[in-house]
Amino acid sequence: MLILAIETSCDETSSSIVRDGVEVLSNIIHSQDELHVEYGGVVPEIASRAHTERMIPVLEESLTRAGCAWSDIDAIAVANRPGLIGSLLVGVTSAKGLACALGLPLIGVDHIEAHLYAGCLESTPPPFPALGLVVSGGHTSLFACTNTTTMEQIGSTIDDAVGEAYDKAAVLLGLDYPGGPRLDAMAREGDDSTHEFPVSMLDRGSLDFSFSGLKTSVLYTVRGTPERVDGKTVFPRDGSELSEREKRDIAAGFQKAAVDALMSRMKRAIEQAEYKSILVGGGVSANSLLRERLSEFAERHGLELRLPGLRYCLDNAAMIAGYAFHLFQAGRVDDLALSAMPTSARR
Ligand code: KG4
Ligand code: ZN
Repeated sequence: MLILAIETSCDETSSSIVRDGVEVLSNIIHSQDELHVEYGGVVPEIASRAHTERMIPVLEESLTRAGCAWSDIDAIAVANRPGLIGSLLVGVTSAKGLACALGLPLIGVDHIEAHLYAGCLESTPPPFPALGLVVSGGHTSLFACTNTTTMEQIGSTIDDAVGEAYDKAAVLLGLDYPGGPRLDAMAREGDDSTHEFPVSMLDRGSLDFSFSGLKTSVLYTVRGTPERVDGKTVFPRDGSELSEREKRDIAAGFQKAAVDALMSRMKRAIEQAEYKSILVGGGVSANSLLRERLSEFAERHGLELRLPGLRYCLDNAAMIAGYAFHLFQAGRVDDLALSAMPTSARR
């Protein structure tokens, strides 16, 4: 079964064709980073306009790369939740138009659930139950997965997502958007014992995360402890006097604290229930330290790890097409009433 999928939930315009949920025939990703870099983050209106311009060329390229014609496609899938509403609408209306014109089934996909499937592309589904970790720019959550398409959220961030904390810390260190991968590279050159940043544990046994304390701690380290002057918060420095070496050490300390926070909840989760495997996905699953620590953790605890290939960590339509195959098998098909939703239906 060939599924063509569309992904436009944030600032990547992507289309992919995947056979039987596993074999990726094409995965075209048009990143908009260059459009948002001057603003230091994604501007929703710019993102949705750029999706509109790029959608048709990206679809055509995904067919060409896969060596397919429209008549070869068996179903159309689309990420319809969660995300920026204007961006999602471009993908959802395109997918509906295609499904209607071609007379094909339409499958709406939850972007977060699809991130967890990314490690199963070009692989086999893991043994279940699986512990799922989604780490992206908008989400940081743990899931108990009973099979490929059934999962329950067992923890999530109470404030910032880990990718958001990476992007904000990167701005403080003078790095361009998106800062996560740049901060990761910088941290590899630094000494993680120079600064000990806080790892918020919340209540004993809690599987929730919090990254706002870590972010504030990096802010104070870079710019000094602020004072109130005439009702305004004033920092003693602007951070420009930091040497490259000091920046690398701060990056390394931040990275260690962020990854420690993620791994501590993984440990708590496996103490609270039995799992046979780990699914992980989202942009931060491309992080070099997190990948190392997850591999060690899985080996130590005898869990099978499905770590996505780097090209499937960031937003991409291959994970949408792959996951949609399993939704289709489970009878979870939509009709033309499918709508874009800014939040996941389950929350
Ligand atoms: O999954 P994704 O492409 O978009 C969302 O659904 O949010 O994730 C993007 C996030 C950004 O915050 C980006 O800085 C972060 O993933 N990211 C990284 C790395 N690569 C991407 N964070 C840390 N280390 C990386 N290597
Ligand atoms: Zn994502």
